[in-house]
Amino acid sequence: MRLRSAAQWLLVLPARSSGLADKNSHQPLEKRTLATSEPFYPSPWMNPDADGWTEAYARAKEFVSRMTLLEKVNLTTGVGWEAEQCVGQVGAIPRLGLRSLCMQDSPLGVRGTDFNSGFPSGQTAAATFDRGLIYRRGYAMGQEARGKGVNVLLGPVAGPLGRAPTGGRNWEGFSPDPVLTGVGMAESIKGIQDAGTIACAKHFIGNEQEHFRQVGEAQGYGFNISEALSSNIDDKTLHELYLWPFADAVRAGVGSVMCSYQQLNNSYSCQNSKLLNGLLKGELGFQGFVMSDWQAQHTGAASAVAGLDMTMPGDTEFNTGRSYWGANLTLAVLNGTVPAYRIDDMAMRIMAAFFKVNKDIKLDPINFSFWTLDTYGPIHWAAQTGYQQINYHVDVRADHGSLIREIGAKGTVLLKNTGSLPLKKPKFLAVIGEDAGPNTSGPNSCSDRGCDNGTLAMGWGSGTANFPYVVTPDAALQAQALQDGSRYESILSNYATSQIKALVSQANVTAIVFVNADSGEGYINVDGNMGDRKNLTLWKDGDALVKNVASWCSNTIVVIHSPGPVLLTEWYNSPNVTAILWAGLPGQESGNSIADVLYGRVNPAARSPFTWGPTRESYGTDVLYTPNNGNGAPQDDFTEGVFIDYRYFDKTNSSVIYEFGHGLSYTTFEYSNIRVQKSNAGKYEPTTGKTSPAPTFGNFSTNLKDYVFPSHEFPYVYEYIYPYLNTTDPKAASGDANYGQTADKFLPPHATDSSAQPLLRSSGKNSPGGNRQLYDVMYTITADIKNTGSIVGEEVPQLYVALGGPDDPKVQLRDFDRIRIDPGKTAQFRGTLTRRDLSNWDTTLQDWVISKYKKTAYVGRSSRKLDLSIELP
Ligand SMILES: *[C@@H]1O[C@H](CO)[C@@H](O)[C@H](O)[C@H]1NC(C)=O
Ligand SMILES: *[C@@H]1O[C@H](CO)[C@@H](O)[C@H](O)[C@H]1NC(C)=O
Ligand SMILES: *[C@@H]1O[C@H](CO)[C@@H](O)[C@H](O)[C@H]1NC(C)=O
Ligand SMILES: *[C@@H]1O[C@H](CO)[C@@H](O)[C@H](O)[C@H]1NC(C)=O
Ligand SMILES: *[C@@H]1O[C@H](CO)[C@@H](O)[C@H](O)[C@H]1NC(C)=O
Ligand SMILES: *[C@@H]1O[C@H](CO)[C@@H](O)[C@H](O)[C@H]1NC(C)=O
Ligand SMILES: *[C@@H]1O[C@H](CO)[C@@H](O)[C@H](O)[C@H]1NC(C)=O
Ligand SMILES: *[C@@H]1O[C@H](CO)[C@@H](O)[C@H](O)[C@H]1NC(C)=O
Ligand SMILES: *[C@@H]1O[C@H](CO)[C@@H](O)[C@H](O)[C@H]1NC(C)=O
Ligand SMILES: *[C@@H]1O[C@H](CO)[C@@H](O)[C@H](O)[C@H]1NC(C)=O
Repeated sequence: MRLRSAAQWLLVLPARSSGLADKNSHQPLEKRTLATSEPFYPSPWMNPDADGWTEAYARAKEFVSRMTLLEKVNLTTGVGWEAEQCVGQVGAIPRLGLRSLCMQDSPLGVRGTDFNSGFPSGQTAAATFDRGLIYRRGYAMGQEARGKGVNVLLGPVAGPLGRAPTGGRNWEGFSPDPVLTGVGMAESIKGIQDAGTIACAKHFIGNEQEHFRQVGEAQGYGFNISEALSSNIDDKTLHELYLWPFADAVRAGVGSVMCSYQQLNNSYSCQNSKLLNGLLKGELGFQGFVMSDWQAQHTGAASAVAGLDMTMPGDTEFNTGRSYWGANLTLAVLNGTVPAYRIDDMAMRIMAAFFKVNKDIKLDPINFSFWTLDTYGPIHWAAQTGYQQINYHVDVRADHGSLIREIGAKGTVLLKNTGSLPLKKPKFLAVIGEDAGPNTSGPNSCSDRGCDNGTLAMGWGSGTANFPYVVTPDAALQAQALQDGSRYESILSNYATSQIKALVSQANVTAIVFVNADSGEGYINVDGNMGDRKNLTLWKDGDALVKNVASWCSNTIVVIHSPGPVLLTEWYNSPNVTAILWAGLPGQESGNSIADVLYGRVNPAARSPFTWGPTRESYGTDVLYTPNNGNGAPQDDFTEGVFIDYRYFDKTNSSVIYEFGHGLSYTTFEYSNIRVQKSNAGKYEPTTGKTSPAPTFGNFSTNLKDYVFPSHEFPYVYEYIYPYLNTTDPKAASGDANYGQTADKFLPPHATDSSAQPLLRSSGKNSPGGNRQLYDVMYTITADIKNTGSIVGEEVPQLYVALGGPDDPKVQLRDFDRIRIDPGKTAQFRGTLTRRDLSNWDTTLQDWVISKYKKTAYVGRSSRKLDLSIELP
C-alpha cells in the first residue's frame, strides 16, 4: 500500500541539476547522481485554432461553459475500480444528458466480453507493412468497441516501443522502429476514431519493461522497492526514438494519451510536467486529454498542474474508496491550489475529444460488464449493488473474421524457403507440436490468456480479448488436406518423441512443426516469466522438437508464433529445415491465415518488424531484472541512445540471423532506376509568438455547502468515487491529515500562471504533431520494381536514409509501401523524405536541425538488402 499525500510532489521535482551522469561509471548507483526531470509550467491550455480541432473546440466550449464545478470534476475522475461496467468509467453529467464515459481495453479487441473478435496483435499488423490493412483493423476494432458502448478504446500502443526484445508487452505495439510504429499509430487511430470511438495512445513514455513498473506488483514478486522503475532517457534519444511515434499519433488527431506507470528521470510519468506539459501539450500541441494508467496517479494537485486530465480508475489504489481527485479536486479548485482554468481545460480536452468523434451527446448504453459474462448481476461490481441485466451479449463481430484472416496471412513473414513452399497437394502432411492444436481447456480458459496452452494467438494481460473461436492450424490444415486428398496426421504434443520420430521418418512426408514463445503483462507470471520473457528461446522444448524432426525428415517446415524474436540459431541453417515462417500472434483465424500462406493463396510479402539476432546478448539491450538502487527506484539508463534493434546490429557490424525488414515471397523482384526529386520546401521557420491567456468557462460558488453529497437525491454507493464533499469542513472532507499545511509553498513556480505563454520553437502554432514544416516533403525518391517471377506478388520496398553524422545510425527506415505487381510487370515505388526524416534533435536549440553531413537515400527489400542508393542533392 502506498498512499502518498499530495504534498509529496516535492520528491519528484529536481533537487539537483544533472542528467544521465557517469554513463560508463562503475560506481554503485547510490553514489551517483540520479537523473532528474526539469519542471515545465503552466500546463498548456487548449488552442481554439488547432487543425482538426476547431469544431470540436467550439462544441466543447459551449458544453463546458454550462457545466458546474462538480460536473467538471465528475468528468475528470474515474468512479473507482469495479464501480461500473467498464474497466474504467468517469462520473456522468445527468443534468446535461451525458452518460458516464466508458474506457475499455484492448489494442486487439474489446476485452472481457463476448461476441467480439480477437484481432491479430499490433506487431503482427505492423509486419504487413500495409497502411490500408492497419487502418481497416483500427476501424473494425473501433466499430466493435462502439457496438458495446465503449467510448475510449485503450490503444494503440507505442510504449513499449520494443527496446528490449524480451519486453513483455512489445507485441501490443508495433515495432522497435519509430517510423513503422508511427505509421501503425496514425493508421490505427484514424481507423478507430473514424468508427466513432476515441483512441488512446499509450503508454507515455519510456514504458519499456514490465519489471518494477509498479511497486505493489514488484513487491508481490518479492522485490523490496519503494518507488517504481525510472527509465532515464536523454533528450535526443527521447525525441528521435520514443517520442517520434507519439508525434504521429498526435498529428493523426488522437483524442487521448495514457501516461505510464514507471518514472522517467525519477519523476512519475503521470505527474512529470516536462513530459506532459512540455513535450506532449507544448511541443507536440496535443489537444486531447491525458489519462492515467490504472493506479499510475500518485498525487492530487501536483498531477493536475503537471498536465494530467483524467484519473483512472479514479481511486488512489484499487477499491480504497478514496481518490487524489474527486472530492480532493473539488477542494483543490475551491481553495485555489488548482487554478480554475486548469479544471476547465481538463473538461475542455475531454469534451473536445468526445465531440471530435461523436456527433451527439446522447450515447448508446453500455451493454456489457467487464467483470462477468453473466446476464444478470450487480451493476456496481465492487459494492455488489444494483442487481439488473448487465450483459446483453451483443454480437459486434460483423464480418471481421475475414479481415482478421487476411491480416494474419498478410502479416506472416516467410523467413526462409528453399523451395518446399508453397504446398501443392502434398502427398502426406504431418503436423507436429502443441502449438498447432487447441488449448484443451478452451481458448479462453486462462484469464487474460495467462498461459501458453495450445496454439498461441495472443499474448497475455490487459492487451487481450476473449476469442469467439480459434481456428487452430491443425483444424485448418486438416481441412485443406482432406480437400486435396492428402494423407494427414498430427501429433499435438512436443513430447511424444518416439511417435513423432515414427511419423516423420516415413516416406513422402512434409512435416510442419509449430513452436512458440509467449509474453505479456507484469501482473501475470507464466512459468517464471513476470510479463517480460526470462529468455529468448522457444518454450516447451521447442528447439529440441525442431531439431529432432529435422534430423528425421528432410522436408521440415517451421512455423513460429511469438511476441517478438526467438533464437533460431541452433537449427535455422539445417538443410532439412526447408522453410521458416513467423506468424506472430495472428488472432482468432490463426489456422486459416497460416494455411493461406502455406498453400500460396496469399503470396507472402510481410516483413519482420524486428531483428532476429543470433544470441540474446547480441541485441545490446535487455530488461532490467534486478533492482539496482537498494530499496529506491530501480534505475534503467537507456545508455544505448537510439541504437536499438537494427540500429545496434548495424552500429556494431554484427551478423544477424534475419534482419529487420526481411521477408521472402514466392516470386522474385528486381529493383532498379533510383531517382530523387527535390521539392521546394522552403526555409524552416521556428514557431514564434505566444498563446492567448488561459480562458475559464463558467463560474462556481465558493460556498462549501453547495458541494456536499446530495444524499436526498441518490444513495451513496460503497467505494464509489464522487466529486462531492462529505462535510463542509474541508480538512475533514479531504480526510488528509496534511490538508492545507503546505499552503502557498505547495505548487512549483508558474504552476498557476494563466498569462499568455511563449510558444516553443519546434511546436506547431496550430498544427498538432509539432512545427508544420517538419512534415514538409523535401525529397521524393522513386525506384522501379519488376516482378521477375511467374506469379503475382506483393512487394514491400523500403526507403532508408543515412543522415551521415558520426552519431547517426547507419541507416534508418523512413518510408515504405506494399505494392501488388503482376508477373513480368514493373511498378514504381514512390517514397518521401520529410524535413523531420532528415533532421536530428538539437538539444541546445531545442529544435530539429538538418546537419551538415552528406545524406544518402537507399531503397531495397530490407534493412540489409539495400541495392539502390542515391545521394541527396
Ligand atoms: C532526462 O534527463 C536527461 C539527461 O539529463 C535529459 O537530457 C532529458 O531531457 C531528461 N528528460 C526529461 C523528460 O526530463
Ligand atoms: C457524478 O456522476 C455520478 C455517476 O457516476 C452521478 O450519479 C452524479 O449525479 C454526477 N454528479 C453530477 C454533479 O453530475
Ligand atoms: C524492505 O525494505 C525496507 C527499507 O530498507 C525495510 O524496512 C523492510 O523491512 C524491507 N521489507 C522486507 C519484506 O524485506
Ligand atoms: C484526498 O487525497 C488524500 C491523498 O492525497 C487521501 O489520503 C484522501 O483519502 C483523499 N480524500 C478523499 C475524500 O478521497
Ligand atoms: C495450461 O497452462 C497452465 C498454466 O501455464 C498449466 O499449469 C497447465 O498444465 C496447462 N494445461 C495443459 C493441459 O497443458
Ligand atoms: C514417395 O517416396 C518414395 C520412396 O522414397 C519415392 O520413390 C516416391 O517418389 C515418393 N513420392 C512422392 C510423390 O514424393
Ligand atoms: C525459457 O523460458 C521458457 C518459458 O518459461 C522455458 O520453457 C525454457 O525452458 C526457458 N529456456 C531456457 C534455455 O531456460
Ligand atoms: C536430414 O534428414 C534425413 C532424413 O530424411 C536424415 O537422414 C539426415 O541426417 C538429416 N540431415 C540433417 C542435417 O539433419
Ligand atoms: C462519505 O460518506 C459516506 C456515507 O456516510 C461514507 O460511506 C463514505 O466513506 C464517506 N466518504 C469519505 C471520503 O469520507
Ligand atoms: C487544497 O485542497 C487540496 C486537496 O484536498 C489539499 O491537498 C491542499 O492541501 C489544500 N490546500 C489548501 C491551501 O488548503
